[in-house]
Amino acid sequence: DDFEGRGVWRYSAALPFAEGVTLPEGDTPLHDVPRLEEDIGVDRLRIKHEGMNPTGSFKDRGMTVGVRVAKELGVDRLACASTGNTSAALAAYGARGGMETLVLLPAGKVAAGKIAQASLHDARILEVDGNFDSCLDIVQDLAARGEAYLLNSLNPFRLEGQKTIGLEIMEQFRDEEGDYPDRIVLPVGNAGNTSALYKCFRELVQSGALAESDVPKLTGVQAEGAAPMVEAVEAGNDEVRRWESVETRATAIRIGNPVNAPKALPGIRNTGGTAVAVSDERITDAQRALAGEGVGVEPASAASVAGLRKLREQGRIAADEQVVCLTTGHLLKDPDAAFEAGDDPEPVPNDTDAVLAHLADD
Ligand code: F0G
Repeated sequence: DDFEGRGVWRYSAALPFAEGVTLPEGDTPLHDVPRLEEDIGVDRLRIKHEGMNPTGSFKDRGMTVGVRVAKELGVDRLACASTGNTSAALAAYGARGGMETLVLLPAGKVAAGKIAQASLHDARILEVDGNFDSCLDIVQDLAARGEAYLLNSLNPFRLEGQKTIGLEIMEQFRDEEGDYPDRIVLPVGNAGNTSALYKCFRELVQSGALAESDVPKLTGVQAEGAAPMVEAVEAGNDEVRRWESVETRATAIRIGNPVNAPKALPGIRNTGGTAVAVSDERITDAQRALAGEGVGVEPASAASVAGLRKLREQGRIAADEQVVCLTTGHLLKDPDAAFEAGDDPEPVPNDTDAVLAHLADD
């Protein structure tokens, strides 16, 4: 159809099929943010806004491939555990592909916009009395018993689609001034995206398209209340300890057992990257700062910018670096968080003079 060869599917040479179940996805903007760039103090800062995908997060890039594979396999039921965005994407792409979808969500810990999407796109929604990691345990059991086809980031085809974030960043960044970014900073939950980016750059190097020295340093950011990857990177461990209890306002990355850690840790290490944990307060500040440049993101996404700022303050990132921060989900995903971080509406009488008097009052 009209979407053929667009967005993610422009890179079909790097994907297992020439086309997928598409809405379409990818081709997201790379924003400049001059005030933030100056304030944080790096040579060039760009924001790759993955919230601009059809369902409002980067998960769409994986689902367009994963749901195509599921169709190919002829499975009956698609399933995922989710902190919200994966369930919204699975519901929409499942609906597009005419397939039944089942999503398991941690009760009370998923932002309103995401549940609304899963609901209207007709997923069957199960709210589990437990956190995301428990939901993923159950979905893995269901898949192992042949009850559902798993579309979490443990599914390697999801990550194939998400590789295209790296391809787009390299093209867009270089088209501006001829350089590649020194570093890509991204929020980490299950570490699927970190793994996908690392695979993208490994393939580019192996094919001869990119010099090893041009691979951006992969830098992961977690919330302080859910930071098992940061713990492992700081301790130099090859294994990540599962955190049984996690908490953060950035509910999308409220994850204690990053299942893709075995693929993501080498990515962070071998590219010369690092990992950092940020407070919820820093996340909110970064969300406001991005919004102040017109870029509306959900809290987990703002973690990337909060992490960059902290690393810069600590002197772990130099002033001459060129950096891309990944913002993974749209502001409207979590309207409650946006209201809390933003200013309240002011009630005024239904009268122009009264409105003017109110404005003059400030
Ligand atoms: N940012 C957002 C907005 C997310 O929704 C997620 C993950 C991440 C970052 C972390 O990405 O897992 O690849 O390291 N959300 C998943 C979900 C867990 O269920 O929507 P990751």
